Amino acid sequence: VERVEEKIDYVFKVVVIGDSAVGKTQILSRFAKNEFCFDSKSTIGVEFQTKTVTINGKLIKAQIWDTAGQERYRAVTSAYYRGALGAMLVYDITKRQTFDHVARWVEELRSHADTSIVIMLIGNKGDLVDQRVVHTEYAVEFAEDQGLFFSETSAFTGENVNSAFFKLLEEIN
Ligand code: GTP
Repeated sequence: VERVEEKIDYVFKVVVIGDSAVGKTQILSRFAKNEFCFDSKSTIGVEFQTKTVTINGKLIKAQIWDTAGQERYRAVTSAYYRGALGAMLVYDITKRQTFDHVARWVEELRSHADTSIVIMLIGNKGDLVDQRVVHTEYAVEFAEDQGLFFSETSAFTGENVNSAFFKLLEEIN
């Protein structure tokens, strides 16, 4: 294990943000451990997981921070965003309000994070096709306007989760 640590070229801090219950913790578990949990508890405070991946021949340790979406559990200070090179901004494609709040999350990023932070907008719960209320084209347009990368994922099936993280990590490089 120590030998792997020695070979790490970069450590990239990434933060996962968005409203409560959009699936932030499950997206992270899917990426870091290939796990999914249906009765996931709301995050209290801040947690992080790491995953080491190879991108363009470099060994990159992604240190991914997950925080509570619920206002009352949020202790978001500049410390959470400090040093973050990337952000996954997650909404739930079945909950209009979580998409309507995205602009507020972008503002929070713009005021607390480094100006060069790479932001990926994620429409999660893509498996719930019958319950979709946020259309892809609408989100794509919003992302383009705001200069964000965009992907639709399902933490449940795993669809696009790895590719979204890889894209984000590649863009940080
Ligand atoms: P907070 O910690 O409160 O901010 O919530 P969160 O954004 O971390 O949400 P979490 O990952 O805990 O997921 C909330 C609920 O949505 C859980 O019941 C998950 O099982 C469910 N969920 C998350 N991702 C998906 C998904 O892709 N598809 C489906 N069907 N359910 C999901």
